[in-house]
Amino acid sequence: MQTQIEVQGQIVESKEPGLMDLFRQDVQRWIEPGRISDPGLVTGGKMLKLFLRHYQLRATLLFRFGAWCHQKRIRGFPSIIQRMLSLLYGLEIAMSQEIGGGLYIAHPYGTVIMPARIGKNCSIVHNVTIGLRNEWDFPVIGDEVFIGAGARVLGGIVIGDGAKIGANAVVIEDVPARATVVGVPARVISVGR
Ligand SMILES: CC(C)(COP(=O)(O)OP(=O)(O)OC[C@H]1O[C@@H](n2cnc3c(N)ncnc32)[C@H](O)[C@@H]1OP(=O)(O)O)[C@@H](O)C(=O)NCCC(=O)NCCS
Repeated sequence: MQTQIEVQGQIVESKEPGLMDLFRQDVQRWIEPGRISDPGLVTGGKMLKLFLRHYQLRATLLFRFGAWCHQKRIRGFPSIIQRMLSLLYGLEIAMSQEIGGGLYIAHPYGTVIMPARIGKNCSIVHNVTIGLRNEWDFPVIGDEVFIGAGARVLGGIVIGDGAKIGANAVVIEDVPARATVVGVPARVISVGR
């Protein structure tokens, strides 16, 4: 799909990533697990090897296919895939929301991902919940956010780019860009490291 964006005062066409682009960006996170590797390293052979080696990557790519079916309005598939993800990997993830490329789910079991939006190259470790708090309002998560094991990110809050959420934190307020938060409720312990 083409969208128009403004770059230095000029309107340019930008292409939203297609299914293969998203696959590649997700695979990029598994060349060195958790890191953002050079896109040049993602060859067809490498993709196949990593796909066979890491069940977590298979879960992520199955999700991408389900989200693509949802976007293309292919009926039935998104809900079948959602059930497969839940049965095979214990992962619940929204098919209808924008989730940027380079999604790294280290351990999908027990993880619930129901955001308003997630940016690019985010890492979600294990047993994480991203979802509503009391109202029907969901978190907006920026680019390159790290969410540690057992963390809960709840409500219509905004998590800034590059933020780190510590293991077992319960986040119920906005987190500034590049801040690290820990605890229940989560508090900022550092910014910009
Ligand atoms: C939050 C995190 C990213 C912070 O890392 P860091 O910036 O290197 O911070 P430090 O380890 O220097 O800790 C800074 C302070 O926060 C505390 N802290 C760190 N992580 C914490 C956590 N998850 N909950 C509560 N307090 C925490 C430390 O005890 C320390 O406190 P002090 O200053 O009173 O001594 C990291 O500790 C973390 O939680 N990572 C998640 C790892 C994970 O999910 N692993 C699962 C693998 S399967």
